[in-house]
Amino acid sequence: MTGGFGEFDRSRAALLAEAADRAGRYLQGLADRAVAPSPEAVLALDELDFPLPEAGLEPSRVLAALDEVGSPATVASAGPRYFGFVTGGALPMAVAASWLLSAWDQNAALSVMSPVATRLDAVAIRWVCQLLGLPAGASGGFVSGATMANAACLAAGRDAVLTRAGWDAAGAGLVGAPPVQVVVGDEVHAAVLKALGLIGLGRGRAVRLRTDDQGRIALGELPELDAPAIVCLQAGNVNSGASDPFGPLIDWAHSQGAWVHVDGAFGLWAAACPELAGEMAGAAAADSWATDAHKWLNTTYDCGIALVRDGEPLRAAMRAEASYLPLGAARDPMQFTPGSSQRARGAEVWAVLAALGRDGVSRLVAGHAALARRFASGLAAGGLEVLNEVRLNQVVAACDDARATEEMITALQREGTCWCGPTTWRGRRAMRISISNWATSQADVDRSVTAVLAAANQGSAHHLRRSASPGRRLGP
Ligand SMILES: Cc1ncc(COP(=O)(O)O)c(C=O)c1O
Repeated sequence: MTGGFGEFDRSRAALLAEAADRAGRYLQGLADRAVAPSPEAVLALDELDFPLPEAGLEPSRVLAALDEVGSPATVASAGPRYFGFVTGGALPMAVAASWLLSAWDQNAALSVMSPVATRLDAVAIRWVCQLLGLPAGASGGFVSGATMANAACLAAGRDAVLTRAGWDAAGAGLVGAPPVQVVVGDEVHAAVLKALGLIGLGRGRAVRLRTDDQGRIALGELPELDAPAIVCLQAGNVNSGASDPFGPLIDWAHSQGAWVHVDGAFGLWAAACPELAGEMAGAAAADSWATDAHKWLNTTYDCGIALVRDGEPLRAAMRAEASYLPLGAARDPMQFTPGSSQRARGAEVWAVLAALGRDGVSRLVAGHAALARRFASGLAAGGLEVLNEVRLNQVVAACDDARATEEMITALQREGTCWCGPTTWRGRRAMRISISNWATSQADVDRSVTAVLAAANQGSAHHLRRSASPGRRLGP
C-alpha cells in the first residue's frame, strides 16, 4: 500500500483476531456477571471522553480501551437473564454473519452495488413471508427497526388509499389532500404513533378503539369509517403479549375500503410456531405488516422488516430516481425502504433462517413462551400477582401496591441476577418480563424467579400477598 494508511493494512489481521478474541471473552463472561453495569463501570466511561486526539491512537490500544472500559459499562442484554423491553439476543450465527458482512462492507441499496446483498435480501423477504404465513407474492424491505417498518408500511397505505381517492400523495404531498382517517386500538404502541407523525398523518389524531383487559381491541363498538382510511392493528402487546382479533377486525375494515396494517414487532413470529399460530389467526389478511428480526428472531441490531401484500404501493412510496442510480433488473432494496444506503440486513436474516430452519424458529418461539409461563407460575407461587394471560413471551407482575412494586424493581436491578423493567398495566404499576433471548434456560428463569421474590421480600413487609395464589390463567 502506498497511501498514508499502510499500517492499518499491516495490522488488519491481528486487529480482527484480537476483536474476535475480546468478543468471545465478553460473551463467555455474560452469564456470570451482574446484568446491569456497576455505577463504577459507568463512571469509568469518563476515560473514553477525552479531547479528539490530534494524532491517531494505535488501533489495538483503541480496541483495548473499548473493551476494557466499554464492556463493563454495557448492559448484559446479550446474556441469558435480561428481560427488559423486548430485546432479543443475537444468536451466534447472527453475530458471525454480521462480522463477515461488516468485512464485506456492502451497500445493499442497489443490485449493482452488491449482487449478493440484494439477492439474499430478496430470498430473506420470501422466507420471512413463508414463515409468517403471509400471502404468496407479499414483498417488503429491511429497515432499522419496527418503528421504521411501521412508517414505511403506513406510508404505502397512506398513498394507496389516497390514490384510490384520486390524490397523488407521493407527488403532491398531503397539503390539500382528502383527510385520511386513521383508527388504532387504545393500546397502540408508541412506535405506531411516532410513525404516523413521521408520515404526516399525525401522532394525535387517530380514532382510538376501546381495548379489553388484555389490551386487545374490543369487538362490538366498531365505528363507521370515512374513506380514505387506515386501520392499525397489533400482534403482540408490548406488555401483555396479547393480539387483536384480526379476523373480524380486518373484515370490518376491508368491507369499508380501509387499508389494514398490523404492528407485529415481536408478536408476528408466533405465526411461525404451530402451537402459537392461533394467536395470529386472520392476520395474513391485512395489507401490511411491520416486524423486527432483532427481537424474536435474535439477529443483531438493527433489523426491522416492512412487509406488504402488494409491493407496488410500497415501491411507489419509497422510490428514488437519479441519473447516477442505475435500476437493476433485480429487485433493488432502496426502492422498498425509506433509506438509500443500507447495510446487508437481509443477508444476516438469510443466514439466521438458514441456520435455524423452520423448525428452529418454531422451537425458539415456543421455548420462550414456555419459559414465560414458567416465570409467571414461579412468581404467582411466590405471592406476586400475574396481571396478564401469558400467551406469548410477556409477563406482567405486581406486588400489592405501587410503591412495593417500584421498590422490588429497584432492588432487583441493583442486585444484578436479572433485569426487568417497570410499566403501568391497566392503571396498575407493574414489572414487565420479556423472554426473547435464545440463551435463556429454565435454570436462568428459576434463578431469576428466586431473585425477584427476594427483591420483593426485601422492602416493606407487605410486598407479597400473604398466601400464594394461582393468579390468572397462565397459558393459552
Ligand atoms: C409492538 C411494538 N411495536 C413497535 C416497536 C418498536 O420497535 P423498534 O424499537 O424496533 O423500532 C416495539 C418495540 O418494543 C413493539 O413492541
